[in-house]
This record gives sequence, C-alpha cells and structure tokens, in this order.
Amino acid sequence: MCGIIGIISTKEVTSRIVNSLKKLEYRGYDSAGIATLNGGNINEVKCEGRVDTLEKNIQKFSLRGEIGIGHVRWATHGRPSKANAHPHSSEQVSVVHNGIIENSTILKKHLEKKGYLFKSQTDTEVIAHLVTDYLKKNSLKDTIIKVLKKLHGSFALGILFKDREDLIVGARRGSPLAVGYGPNENYLGSDSYALKSMTNKISYLEDGEFCIIKKQEIEFYESEGKKINKKILNLSQGAISYDKGDYKYFMEKEIDEQPFTIQDCINEYVDKYNREINIHNFPWKISSLKSLVLIGCGTAFHSCLVAKYWFEKNTNLDVTVDIASEFRYRKVNFKKDCLYLFVSQSGETADTYAALDLCKKNKMKTCAVVNVVESSIARVADLVLPIYCGQEVGVASTKAFLGQMLVLYILTTKIAYHQKYITKKDYQSKIKNLLSLSNSTKKTLSSENNLINIGKVFANAKGSMFLGRGYSYPIALEGALKLKELAYVHAEGYPAGEMKHGPLALIEEGMPVVVLAPRDEHYKKTISNMQEVIARGAKVLLITNKNNDEIISENIWEQIAVDKFDDELTPFLITIPLQKLAFYSALEKGYDIDKPRNLAKSVTVE
Ligand code: M6R
Repeated sequence: MCGIIGIISTKEVTSRIVNSLKKLEYRGYDSAGIATLNGGNINEVKCEGRVDTLEKNIQKFSLRGEIGIGHVRWATHGRPSKANAHPHSSEQVSVVHNGIIENSTILKKHLEKKGYLFKSQTDTEVIAHLVTDYLKKNSLKDTIIKVLKKLHGSFALGILFKDREDLIVGARRGSPLAVGYGPNENYLGSDSYALKSMTNKISYLEDGEFCIIKKQEIEFYESEGKKINKKILNLSQGAISYDKGDYKYFMEKEIDEQPFTIQDCINEYVDKYNREINIHNFPWKISSLKSLVLIGCGTAFHSCLVAKYWFEKNTNLDVTVDIASEFRYRKVNFKKDCLYLFVSQSGETADTYAALDLCKKNKMKTCAVVNVVESSIARVADLVLPIYCGQEVGVASTKAFLGQMLVLYILTTKIAYHQKYITKKDYQSKIKNLLSLSNSTKKTLSSENNLINIGKVFANAKGSMFLGRGYSYPIALEGALKLKELAYVHAEGYPAGEMKHGPLALIEEGMPVVVLAPRDEHYKKTISNMQEVIARGAKVLLITNKNNDEIISENIWEQIAVDKFDDELTPFLITIPLQKLAFYSALEKGYDIDKPRNLAKSVTVE
C-alpha cells in the first residue's frame, strides 16, 4: 500500500520518478505526488487521482531537479485529496511514507503546541515536522535515529532535506523498502519493479534499518546508528512481460495466461520423464512433521483453504488454516513438529509477514509460497516455493491464485508420497494428471459460454451468493471475493450445506446464486441445496461438469459445464468461469477493472 520512489543523480530525475510511479501504481492509486530539490528549494507537485494526472500537472510547473522523491497513495489517514497526497513537507524536509504511524495523534498535539502548523489530515505530516524539530539540535544522522524511535507503527520512508542536495534518507520498519545501485546515481523504491528499468542491482532494508543514499555511495545503518554492510542482489528478469499486449485490461490478459503460467510452474517442479516432483531441498525432515498451519490473506487465504482438503486427504498431517491478521494477534501454541506455511502473491503483505516473523521469533519451521521471489516474505522463510506466474498487475488476483493452488497441490503430493501415505502408483497418476492440467485449463478458457450476459445480471443485482461443498466451498469464497472487489456487488460465499442454518433467509425472487457442483462425491448433496434456493426464487448459475446422464436443467437459469477432470484438480477449472463472471460484471458497470476502488495490489499496512 502506497508506493515510494527516490532518485539522486547527476541528471534530471523528474520523468524517471514519474515512470517509476506508474509502475508502483498497483500499490495505491488514489493520489500521487513528487518533490524535487532545486537551487535550495523543495518543489512539490501533488494531485488527487492517478499518475497520469500528476504527469500533466508536472508539465505545467516544469518541475526540475537531480534529486527527488515520489509517492502513490492508498489512503489510511484522511480521504484522497491533493492536500493529503504525499510528499508532505515542512520548511526543511519533504517526506514520503508507506505504512501507518499509530501514535500520530499524540505526536501531532505535541508538535502543534510547539507551533508547527499542519496542512493535511495525514499521519505522515508529523514525520516532516518531527524531523524538522530534531534537526534544530541534532546532526542529520542523530535526528533520524531519534525520530524513528519516536514513531510507533509501520513505515517505509523517503526523506529529502532542503539543505542537503547530496542525499536522500530511507528507513524501514514493517513496510518494504529497496535501494538500487546505478552509475553515478542511486535509488530508493518500495519494490524492485519500480527500480527494474534503472538497475538490476539492489539491496533490501530490514526492519529497523535506515540508509543515506548519495550519488556515488549508499551507507546503511542499524537502528542505533552502527554502520552495516548489505548484500547486493542481482534481480531476476521476469519471463512474462509487463505490458498488456493486445488486451485492454491486465486482468483479462492474466486470466488468459493461466494455461501458460501453470505449464511454466509445472516445468519447474515436475520431472515429466521420471514422473517425480523436484522439491528436494526441505530444510527439515518431512517425517518429523505432524501438523501444518497454512496462513494467508484474501485470495491467498482461499488457496490455503483448498489445500487443507488436499493435505487432509493425502497425508496424515493435522491441518489448520488461518487468516494472517488473526493469527498474529492470537495466543498461538507453537508446536515444534508443525510446519507454518505462508502464502502470498506479493510476498509483502504486512499481516502475512508479521505472522511469519512471529513464527521465526518462536523458532518454528517456515515455508513461503510466493510469486515475488525477492520479497520480504521470501527472504525470511526457511523454504521458498515460487509460483512462477510472472508479474500479476491486476489488483484482483487470478493467475496467482491458480499458481498458489498449484504449488500447494504439488507440495501435498510430494509430502504424501514421502510419508508413504499414497502408493507410488497413486503418486505417478497424480503427476500424470498434473501434466494435463494446463491443457484442461486452456479448454475451459476457450469453451463457449454466456458469461457476458450472465455478468450483466450479477452486475445489477442487489446481492448474490456463491455456494459449494468440499473443494468447491473455498472456490465459492474466491468467486464471491472477485465479484465484490471488481463489480462492487455484495456477494457471499457459503458452504452449500450451511444455507439452511440462516442464510437461506436472504434468498428472494430473482437473486442470482452461483452453485458450484462438479461431479464429485458432493454432487448430489449440492444439487439438493441448489433446488432449495431455486424453490425460494433464486436465479441459479450452475457450474458443473459435462456428463450425459440425468442432465438437470429444469428451473436452472444458466449452466456452465467444464470437462470432467480429476476431482482434486477440478478447483482449477471451476475457478475460471468465476474470474470471467467478475470481469464481465465489472465491464458492464464500466468500473476500473485493473484498479478497483479503495484497494491496492500490495497490502503493506495491517
Ligand atoms: O500479495 P498477497 O497474496 O499476500 O495478497 C493477499 C490479498 O491482499 C490479495 O489476495 C487480495 O485479496 C486480492 N486483491 C484478491 O483478488
């Protein structure tokens, strides 16, 4: 949430800051701003809205400078507006911030008493005034050490100083921050994507650290001001390009890419000749594991829920699934023989990171399933299993969800065989099915359906429900989440068997309901639950498998039938129509598909 960029160079930096902000927009897009130093003055341009608007404003003001910071915002304190957009400046300093300062109200009162005037409703502005205040009696370095100690909460910061055209300060606690190394210039950025067009050499700040970035060098310090050294990493180049190609929306492209991203991931993990899964680097004995806790947020949490069914069926592990923001604040009884597995596309989600950090502090075994391999979560976990789906730009997660499920399924299969819980024959048959998953996904994507028209009904509904049993229950949750975040329609995912315990009261004439009933062991029960909602007036979209026998069509509003496939892998196929349903519903409404309102791609606040 919120994106930060800083550049110090021997050349003009404004246009490059703007370009980087465009790449960071997935982290926040309600307002944007930039500040440069030129001739001893801090010059700011800020606006409500997108970076495109900022760019036009910058042209009007002909903003110049060889040192500058920029920001894209996802509002925490104060609504999106020009006044609340970052950077926030005092006479002396200009600050960009990602995170939340939890004691900002107290700090603000204290600073107001001292005569500091506030122009915004943000928590960030206190940092600008606090730094200014400390600078009166302290050196720059001591000021930073003291100010960081005063701040409660989480932050990644970039700070410019009016009288120091030779440096930018960066600091991190809780929110990610990278620095990049260039020729006669250096950079600060929320993540490596923002820096990739300028350098492939980066270092990451760890919690509590800060840095002083100059044109020719970068100095790193721990929280007490002791100098430290940092490893320089070479960034990997993502296989899948960042542009939209012939597509109008990233989400549409990312849905269509799924057969390829699945294949890429399978190529990484599956030895198709020997029918073997290539995960050999477990840092602990699999036989020592008795239980598994899967942790994530949002869509990643849903992939964990699906995996619970797989792990319970195929291994003897005791499996629980937790939402990261709950896990991190509960009293957890940590177990030595438990594996704590964290799932995150971005690898930067604040709650997931904090839950991982808690496990590390308690010396637990940890594993991360991530997309961004340079991310904070990937850097901290004992074992990292990437999902290899290339950059996902659409805020609504699609290909990463399938990628997360895929890696979790591959891991289940590996552990299942390692535990001798499944036979070699079963192991190899599961691998065989995996090898045809990409093709089945492709067929599902290309099969004819009426989703454009179905989407119109969902888009205009007062509310909707998504029902399923077994593996299809978490997929129902995911389908409902997609519709909520893209089409802004109230949508509830529910276990089909739970409807009679209350939610059935919501069903009224014409309410659209998705029923996920693949022909697995739950089919008949789910169909009965479907009849119960139809009897109460629901318009049912049934998603099932193609089959010739007893085709039920009476009273069903719409049907989508995907090919019959291995039951365990069917969640991959039935997710696809749900992704498209949400996409077409948002399209019908004319909403911003890649950047839904109020959201951000990387959620680095708790
Ligand atoms: O980067 P992460 O996978 O940790 O993100 C977790 C959630 O914020 C994310 O899945 C969110 O729910 C998506 N916008 C859903 O489409």
